[in-house]
Amino acid sequence: MGITDTAYQKCINPDCGAQFDCWQALFKCPTCGELLDVQYNWDKIEVPNKLSDFAKRWANRGNPLDFSGVWRFRELLNFCDDKYKVTIGEGQTILQQNNAVAEYVDMKPGRLYLQYEGLNPSGSFKDNGMAAAFSHAKMVGATSSACASTGNTSASVALYAHSCGLKATVFIGSGRIAFGKLSQGMDYGAKTIQIRGDFDDCMRQVQDVCTKLGLYLLNSLNPFRLEGQKTIMYRIIEGLGWEVPDWIIVPGGNLGNSSAFGKAFYELKQLGLIEQIPRMAIINATGADTLTELVNAVRHGQVHNKKLLWNDGGVNQAIIDDYYADLTARNFSPHTCASAIEISRPVNLKKCLRALDICNGVVRAVTDEEILDAKAIVGKYGLGCEPASAATIAGLRHLRSEGIIDADQRVACVLTGHPLKDPNVTVSYHKEKQGEFSNPPIEAPNDLDEIIKLIK
Ligand code: F0G
Repeated sequence: MGITDTAYQKCINPDCGAQFDCWQALFKCPTCGELLDVQYNWDKIEVPNKLSDFAKRWANRGNPLDFSGVWRFRELLNFCDDKYKVTIGEGQTILQQNNAVAEYVDMKPGRLYLQYEGLNPSGSFKDNGMAAAFSHAKMVGATSSACASTGNTSASVALYAHSCGLKATVFIGSGRIAFGKLSQGMDYGAKTIQIRGDFDDCMRQVQDVCTKLGLYLLNSLNPFRLEGQKTIMYRIIEGLGWEVPDWIIVPGGNLGNSSAFGKAFYELKQLGLIEQIPRMAIINATGADTLTELVNAVRHGQVHNKKLLWNDGGVNQAIIDDYYADLTARNFSPHTCASAIEISRPVNLKKCLRALDICNGVVRAVTDEEILDAKAIVGKYGLGCEPASAATIAGLRHLRSEGIIDADQRVACVLTGHPLKDPNVTVSYHKEKQGEFSNPPIEAPNDLDEIIKLIK
């Protein structure tokens, strides 16, 4: 009893709407197979009257739950007792106003903010989700966990699993993940299974393995993980002095973040904690642009009239089935230098459609060249980020030139991963002079005068 009164799981399909308590580890609705949400009985939770009340927790940061960038907002993700809560100090991230990057995207000074999620313990935003999901894993008594990954999920799972005493098996596509991420999973002690296939193949396999072996699944199909990722938005609001920005920009891969952000804003509005829901832009890479094609009704470069919409939950499944059948018929496998978002069958597609509906969102795709240049700019003028994160800056440039975002609107880009996650891409960009901002090392003889000439 107790905490079970405050939260429950609910199927997102309005024709089903089946409900389950939080003591079950489910990654799809057992009744209809759709995605599940965590829902709250808000009248039974003591939510602060205003968001700024959360600032009081800082004075008590000697308590690990008050220090955690996830759990210090715990009333907004109140699904488990404190005794189960897991934290390793996630969410100590920075919202940086950056005028040089603002200039690159043609925005006015003071209007662009970068949310550095690469500062998390494992170097990506995933740690927000894992703090919540591993707490749920402890709550249901799980001993063994698994995930499919383009790299960051596996690093984060491996770190949290050993921190709280669970076994971890991670599935990755052979040759599909960046070296920094691969090294982390091995170093943190996970069993790494390299499948001859891409992320979508791994995602299919891991679900079957988890069902057969009863492993706890940590992909974003897990609704508890997304509850942790809501806190990225709370911290952006906090960084803006408890105000919401006009726009949130986020890269789109498996679409967990965008789904979580939409839910976060919906709940804050419902609770009267914000007045206005920001708009959201989700940015794909052109080599992995399922969402863009479905939402903007583009197929093989042609615009048609079958736009995929949330439609109060009545999503037109035939459009999705038809799209995926075409991918299969063409033996399509996604390809982009932003390997984190190299995904063509995003599992959270429907929740993401709901988020686009909530946030009056837009979707764009950017090329690898645009991503690499934007990444170099974030490196040169900011704290750096991995390629997928830089898609946000490249996407913002598009939206500025289209006039969809104004130069004086307040925009927050979520930089999802640390620059050292993918050193190969960075080194190639600079050494092989792949772009406008390449900054290759200069060869010098072992001679003082010659070296000085090169520096002057
Ligand atoms: N950015 C980075 C750095 C990522 O690692 C991911 C996803 C995304 C963006 C996309 O986020 O899935 O919420 O739309 N990485 C997953 C992984 C898929 O396995 O590490 P999303």
